Amino acid sequence: MVLIKVEKAEIAQKMTSLLVIGIFENEQDFSQSKELDSTSSSIIRQILKNREFKGSFGSNITLYTVDKAPMKKIMLIGLGQKEKFTNERARIIAGKAALNAKELGLTEFTISLSNVDEDLVEAICEGISLSLYSFSKYKTDNNEKESLNLEVSILINSESTKFQSIIEKVKLIAEAVYFGRDLSNLPPNECSPARLASVALSLASEHAMKVRIVERYEMETIGLAGIVAVGKGSNNPPKMIILEYSGAPSDQKPYLLVGKAVTFDTGGISLKPGDKMDEMKFDKCGGCIVLAILKAIASLKLPINVVGIVPSVENMPSSTAYRPGDIIRMYNGKTVEVLNTDAEGRIILADALAYGITLYNPKAIIDLATLTGACIIALGANVAAAIGTSKELIEKLRRVSEKTGEKIWELPLYDEFHEQIKSTVADIKNVGGRPGGAITAAAFLSNFAADFPWIHLDIAGTAWTQDGTFERSYNPKGATGFGIRTLVKLLAEDRNGKL
Ligand code: BES
Ligand code: ZN
Ligand code: ZN
Repeated sequence: MVLIKVEKAEIAQKMTSLLVIGIFENEQDFSQSKELDSTSSSIIRQILKNREFKGSFGSNITLYTVDKAPMKKIMLIGLGQKEKFTNERARIIAGKAALNAKELGLTEFTISLSNVDEDLVEAICEGISLSLYSFSKYKTDNNEKESLNLEVSILINSESTKFQSIIEKVKLIAEAVYFGRDLSNLPPNECSPARLASVALSLASEHAMKVRIVERYEMETIGLAGIVAVGKGSNNPPKMIILEYSGAPSDQKPYLLVGKAVTFDTGGISLKPGDKMDEMKFDKCGGCIVLAILKAIASLKLPINVVGIVPSVENMPSSTAYRPGDIIRMYNGKTVEVLNTDAEGRIILADALAYGITLYNPKAIIDLATLTGACIIALGANVAAAIGTSKELIEKLRRVSEKTGEKIWELPLYDEFHEQIKSTVADIKNVGGRPGGAITAAAFLSNFAADFPWIHLDIAGTAWTQDGTFERSYNPKGATGFGIRTLVKLLAEDRNGKL
């Protein structure tokens, strides 16, 4: 992975193969100009004056210093309007700079933005690290395999003892994001529920976490009938992964994270149309993200207790598959009429939620799932939906998400939505019709979260890059790892057992 450091060096003296300078839109007297050597500085001023470079967000121009200055090249990169500048924009810019350096085959570069504070350093580090990810495991040609050796200096104007610890923290989080993306990007022929379970076993031993894999026979005995039903159509048996991280005394209640891991969602007997069905390998992203969050929390040694539960199945049509019309008695005793086998995520999550609250009495629950196409219709491919029973927790989550750039918007869980999933033959049915589809899915889940503070995050639009995804340098094609940074940041805010 890339090596990042902060440096309080004179910009004009900086020996580097590429100096990246951020320039605001229509900024003629850019702040670093005084510090540069006079030739470079006057050339840049001229370029800005002639409006050959306007500083619009993301634009860039590269100048060669032809041995007249210690840096070989200077890249001006547009920061857009000053009033609109955010840490998210810095993340995107830093990612672009890193990709540029990679493209040029450089082994190091330097980046200088004005007024670099701690949050900005964090965003720059994230942008650089996350943009350099690539999934090249299945590329046979060695040139396409990544062996990246890159060092980056971030120039700062004032020392802070915190910078180094921020860099180290971002490195651990980026490693978790890489892990989550790698797992999510695996093709469905290589990633069965059993494979996820074995990855969880290695993760647990690496970080000294407790782990348990609930096998199908045990699910049958203890009554996890929802997970068994959805998994019935596949030769790859379902698994339920339980990871426990203990960073606080055992009398402190844990946070419970639950992640949907459908390793492939064909829709089952209610078969999906063929178009883009391959993307349903990403239907395991919620579960992969939960594993990645536990990895991050364990490596950061956060002083909290966290339990991660990942119900994992493959949803296939076959003579042994569950069918529309089936009625399932779930782990918490409620009965579910299956009207569409493609609404399988809520069924496996429901059992995992009910099991998790019974076993762990958590202080709060967050589930993550690529749960509904309706979520994409409602909020698009750049915003995740948050639906739940704790206003306070949703507000905190939203505030944190504004910092991480992982956009989250709340949808309401009004009583009307519960009406839509009432069944005539069972307690509830697994579909509530097209209107408000993302919310009726959450209404279904709420039947299994009892009165615990709970948030459901529908990441159907944001878990991977798809039609409508806004291009962000730091989210290369494929799985994004959406949610890892936000939830780790949220949980890191826990003070003495309270968020
Ligand atoms: N995994 C899908 C949801 C999905 C679809 C996520 C497309 C991302 C992109 C889920 O299991 C599903 O198929 N949901 C159905 C529910 C419907 C039958 C009520 C859907 O959204 O169409
Ligand atoms: Zn489905
Ligand atoms: Zn699904």
